[in-house]
Amino acid sequence: MKIKSCRFEKSSAKMSELPAHSKPEYAFIGRSNVGKSSLINMLTGQKSLAKTSAKPGKTQLINHFMINEQWYLVDLPGYGYAKVSKGKREDWEKMIRHYLTKRENLVCIFQLIDGRLSPQANDLEFANKLGEYGVPFVVVVTKTDKLGGTTIQANVATYKKAMLEHWDDLPAFHLSSTVTERGKEEILNFIEQCNVSYAANPPEIQPRPTV
Ligand code: GTP
Ligand code: MG
Repeated sequence: MKIKSCRFEKSSAKMSELPAHSKPEYAFIGRSNVGKSSLINMLTGQKSLAKTSAKPGKTQLINHFMINEQWYLVDLPGYGYAKVSKGKREDWEKMIRHYLTKRENLVCIFQLIDGRLSPQANDLEFANKLGEYGVPFVVVVTKTDKLGGTTIQANVATYKKAMLEHWDDLPAFHLSSTVTERGKEEILNFIEQCNVSYAANPPEIQPRPTV
């Protein structure tokens, strides 16, 4: 799929602030610093559409980006940043739970995991949460440029094995790098297919109260 246009639409702190739910959307989630915002920039071919940082905890709100005036990419704040207070973590959990369970036009979550690491408990727990909520998701393995191919494959295999302790079937896995643009076409093609299915079979969206 070709990206003809992309623009930042808005940042939201709660459900009532989200943009109209008239178009399909795809949201990126994962541990702080895993590369969510960078991946949005890579996919859209922009340097700084989504704000990135070498320090974790950069993205704090739900950020909507309108793509081709037809669908949204959504950048979410990350989980697992140790320096976040208990109160803030609880706020995050509540906001994300509402978003994941109530956003009717959310087609698929991309859960990003860092290709350099052994299976992280909070990634596996979050995948279980997605299963509990019944939200479709795929896994994107990030930063694959930082290690050799064999090591990455071994890390992915270990992660899949850990997932299989809780899951009967595995989601799709996409390998990515913002440095080499690995995964760009594959992910965009996947989104394109999802958009076609969405158009053929849109969800029943309840009207929002006007007051
Ligand atoms: P939060 O908003 O804090 O949750 O983080 P994030 O997941 O949005 O991460 P972000 O995109 O800000 O990237 C974090 C750091 O990882 C930055 O320094 C990026 O340049 C770097 N990074 C992200 N993806 C890649 C990649 O594929 N390869 C390499 N080498 N670095 C990457
Ligand atoms: Mg970010």
